[in-house]
Amino acid sequence: MWDSICYLNGEYLKLQDAKISVLDRGFIFGDGVYEVVPVYQRSPFCVDEHLERLGRSLHAVSLQNPYSADRWKEIISRLIQSHTAENQFVYFQITRGVAKRDHAFPENVKPTVFAMSSPFSPPSGKILEDGVATITTVDNRWLRCEVKSISLLGNVLKRQEAVQAGVLEVIMFRDGWLTEGSSANIYAVINDQIIAPPRDNKILAGIRYGLMQRLCNAAGVVYAQRQVSKAELLNADEILMSSATKEILAVTQVDEKPVGHGPNAGRPGAIWKKLFNAYQQEKQLQCAIAPTLLA
Ligand code: PDD
Repeated sequence: MWDSICYLNGEYLKLQDAKISVLDRGFIFGDGVYEVVPVYQRSPFCVDEHLERLGRSLHAVSLQNPYSADRWKEIISRLIQSHTAENQFVYFQITRGVAKRDHAFPENVKPTVFAMSSPFSPPSGKILEDGVATITTVDNRWLRCEVKSISLLGNVLKRQEAVQAGVLEVIMFRDGWLTEGSSANIYAVINDQIIAPPRDNKILAGIRYGLMQRLCNAAGVVYAQRQVSKAELLNADEILMSSATKEILAVTQVDEKPVGHGPNAGRPGAIWKKLFNAYQQEKQLQCAIAPTLLA
């Protein structure tokens, strides 16, 4: 890992040689934003959507986008080419730069730009066969969750709750309404309909969250966006989870109870399979890969 190539402020260097100042506002305040783009067969997936969201996050925290979309794509492409892995995920972040410690924005400071790529194994095998276990918890993060901020302590603490419970993710509720996971979007499936929580300041609008409606159309599944109560989620027929690295997973257990009803309770459901396959087909379309579809 340490001898892989990364990008820092205009230079390509080994990860072990990349250094930033201790006064960087990313380090001191978590003052910055980031993106994670999955790469299949060396082809970045939904890169335009990720760069658009980066623009929105930068705008939300009053940072200028340091580069054009073409320049970003050039950096991403160079990092991908420097790796041997076919599947990767590219991480990049911009912080407000290096300045004397003071909460107020510094003047005339150049942002710090960092990017790296890492090998990535798309979910396969048992995680697809069995789905994933989760626990429910209260969402007590800040109220600007729509910003893909590097200040992730709230999410880190939530993820640790999952680790301590021996499950993959948390499902969070604010005032009794579904928000999301610590690093994934969550959907309920009720009466063959996918229900996504509203796109507002209480969730990060994931790139897959944005894709979901189109995938539903392709898979012939009805899609709706509305608030989902905790009782409704716990009684859902299926629960889905999506993110750049998790793709689309079936949640088969919540708080040690099986999700769904009847003989297939606790097993990945038919709607998940349709959406999973629709996502694989979208990957094939964008990244020219042979899709692995589930029967
Ligand atoms: N996280 N919600 C949160 C809080 C997230 O951190 C993420 C992604 C998502 C899903 O977004 P997308 O479909 O664009 O990946 C939703 C990334 C993968 C991370 O922090 O590593």
